[in-house]
Amino acid sequence: MSKVSLTVNGKLVTADVEDRTLLVHLLRDHLGLTGTHVGCDTSQCGCCVVHIDGRAVKSCTTLVGQVDGADITTIEGISKGDELHPMQAAFRDNHGLQCGYCTPGMIMSAIDIVHRYGGNLDEETVRHELEGNICRCTGYHNIVKSVLDAASRMNVAQAAE
Ligand code: FES
Ligand code: FES
Repeated sequence: MSKVSLTVNGKLVTADVEDRTLLVHLLRDHLGLTGTHVGCDTSQCGCCVVHIDGRAVKSCTTLVGQVDGADITTIEGISKGDELHPMQAAFRDNHGLQCGYCTPGMIMSAIDIVHRYGGNLDEETVRHELEGNICRCTGYHNIVKSVLDAASRMNVAQAAE
């Protein structure tokens, strides 16, 4: 067992965990943050993506011991109260989801993509960057549309700051 301490959605969390504990299990089973999904457990589908120190990472293949002291954000931590994050709003407005299983991971990956590319984002880049996120409903067209829409919303918001 090891004692770890990390920040999750702005709150300090300390936990005694077995060395083999995966981040996704800490989030879902210990903290009740079930918005982070498990689709494959083998780092292929992207359902489990969260932000670790601001970067999108698959939490199904991250040991809790590796993120001791880190700042973790999950899908539950991106809205401001009742106000959706611009990426969530864009997915809603562009019908970027069907069953919704892949959606939390898609959104967390997409936010990271927009942060990295800023205004230089085009459809081809979004499709390439989302290769690690699989949508079993195959709604990629509207997912890509949502990400491009969110990119302009986020860049406008950033420019106004
Ligand atoms: Fe992590 Fe599929 S559950 S990539
Ligand atoms: Fe169903 Fe993507 S919306 S898996």
